[in-house]
Amino acid sequence: MSNTAQRKILVTSALPYANGAIHLGHLLEYIQTDIWVRFQKSRGHDCHYVCADDAHGTAIMLRAEQEGITSEALIDRVSRDHQADFARFGVGFDNYHSTHSEENRYFSELIYTRLRDKGHIATRDIEQMYDPAKGLFLADRFIKGTCPKCRTEDQYGDNCEACGATYTPAELIDPVSAISGATPEVRSSTHYFFKLPDFADFLHEWINDGHVQPQIRNKLLEWFESGFNEWDISRDAPYFGFEIPDAPGKYFYVWLDAPIGYLASFKNLCDREGIDFDAYWNSDSEAEVYHFIGKDIVYFHALFWPAMLHGAELRTPTAVNCHGFVTVNGAKMSKSRGTFIKAATYAEHLNPEYLRYYFAAKLTAGVDDLDLNLEDFAQRVNSDLVGKVVNIASRCAGFIKKLGGGKLSAHCAEPQRLARFIAAGDEIAEHYETREFGRAMRRIMELADEANTYIADAEPWVLAKQDGREQEVLDICSVGINLFRQLMVYLAPVVPAMAEDARRFMQLDSLSWESRHTLLLDHAIAKFKPLMTRVETDRIDAMIEASKEDLVEEQKLKSTPKGPLADDPIADEIAFDDFAKVDLRIARIAKAEYVEGADKLLRLTLDIGGETRNVFAGIRSAYAPEALEGRLTVMVANLAPRKMRFGVSEGMVLAAGDDDGIYLLEPHSGAQPGQRVR
Ligand code: 2FM
Ligand code: ZN
Repeated sequence: MSNTAQRKILVTSALPYANGAIHLGHLLEYIQTDIWVRFQKSRGHDCHYVCADDAHGTAIMLRAEQEGITSEALIDRVSRDHQADFARFGVGFDNYHSTHSEENRYFSELIYTRLRDKGHIATRDIEQMYDPAKGLFLADRFIKGTCPKCRTEDQYGDNCEACGATYTPAELIDPVSAISGATPEVRSSTHYFFKLPDFADFLHEWINDGHVQPQIRNKLLEWFESGFNEWDISRDAPYFGFEIPDAPGKYFYVWLDAPIGYLASFKNLCDREGIDFDAYWNSDSEAEVYHFIGKDIVYFHALFWPAMLHGAELRTPTAVNCHGFVTVNGAKMSKSRGTFIKAATYAEHLNPEYLRYYFAAKLTAGVDDLDLNLEDFAQRVNSDLVGKVVNIASRCAGFIKKLGGGKLSAHCAEPQRLARFIAAGDEIAEHYETREFGRAMRRIMELADEANTYIADAEPWVLAKQDGREQEVLDICSVGINLFRQLMVYLAPVVPAMAEDARRFMQLDSLSWESRHTLLLDHAIAKFKPLMTRVETDRIDAMIEASKEDLVEEQKLKSTPKGPLADDPIADEIAFDDFAKVDLRIARIAKAEYVEGADKLLRLTLDIGGETRNVFAGIRSAYAPEALEGRLTVMVANLAPRKMRFGVSEGMVLAAGDDDGIYLLEPHSGAQPGQRVR
């Protein structure tokens, strides 16, 4: 423990929905939070990091139905997948729970009944969208239409991505059911409302009191000016969630019990580890509570959530820390470009710690989007972590083994330099504390540069060739290892696996922040093993290709009858001339083969009348190669060749894809290979 008193800190990241895989967009948040938590733990604070799957709602119910399994079976499977992904990326939750848990039912009922008993719940009949084809009231996100405020089309039912407005689905212009495509009917039903306007004064004070970042405060104040509506917190059966205690057939809306999941997960941890839950959540608690979230869900976390907690006589968060979105190569993550990268796909190709470092190097305390530029990513990781940090240890370790028998010098040849490195820890700690991770990384790399310059100038490898200078070489390299140790203390929150290997190499009990004050003198170290290897760009290319394959798989599994169109609206209108540029030809499948290492692709040799083309098609799940040979299909013959992991693809075959499978287009018999299709 350093000079500051020990703090009690509870930290959360947003609870991921239990109906989809973790991707790089999610990971920014979990990595940001995890770094902050590891830093607090390194400082000796009593810090707990909890999360859970957000398991309720119509989306999950429908997905389970689609897969022919129960909602419970679906959320169990997804939870396991999520936890495996988090573990790969070193995200070290102290507890990972579910909103579909007894603790969450308990707290949802508790908060609801407290709010109700104090008059903060209203009921009234509302006209609501009902999907006549599917037989259920439509949850907000299953209605699409035009934003009533800014007229942006294709917005989901409760808030507009374009202008940030919130509204009820009934206010949308030209609504359609995103589940069946049917035009919804309006039906009446009794709903339960949380009276948010009761908390206007409280919230006004709260958001002006330093609990949110300045940009977020400004956004919230804008919302304030447009006034608050009561918040609809109930949904009608059928719904996967908790029934409202005094309202049979009515369920808590998923967003009501989602943040309560933070309490539930923490309670589950407290019960397991004997932590005093009330010391964190009573209204007079002195503990600190931080929520890390994306800027898209600030309305829920900085308005509804503090109001609910306050109304239920629980403490409110110390801060809600928002971050921006991830872009890749300067653009929104795109499935077709292969930049919509799942955590698992990334981890199959690249070391997760590269990403942790890159995110850290670019993170600030603000809400700006963060661009993962893949070239810069490789360059930065290679130059900083491998070229600067690991290099220090690898340059020094051999001499220490050879000249000191694996033991560092008994005295420090550069006490002042070491003292400066140690003192820099206070500044770096301040950057971590304020979530200015980019600044922390820059300062650490300045120190790494200094350490490398010191070694380069001292030239131990030259001295080592001169007689009688062994002690000098050992002294220099011992300073090098001591400097490296300082750097690893500072980097450990960001690259915990590498830090663990470094800790073992240096034979230290801990790399805690405080531990850096004791120099390593006359201290034995272990044999050096490479701590991190360089990012190889062909691994990045392979990851992008694999992400494109993920898309094919996903389209097959799309959970709505509208298939790909549900998430992928019909593209903008094009001129006839644009269409005429596409050269479609009848092709005969001369040969079809499996592609080793690609579980979604077939390699097709296509005959287009005297010319053959090699095309990779993501249709393996639907066709055995032998069933395809000899068949006719349609191909895009003038598509620019694409280099894929397995070779060059010289065009594309046309296929339809939806939930039921993939269907290659086939012309009527009589069509000839090479004929133009119009
Ligand atoms: O936006 C989301 O992905 C939500 N599942 C986040 C919930 S955070 C908290 F409120 F539970
Ligand atoms: Zn809008």
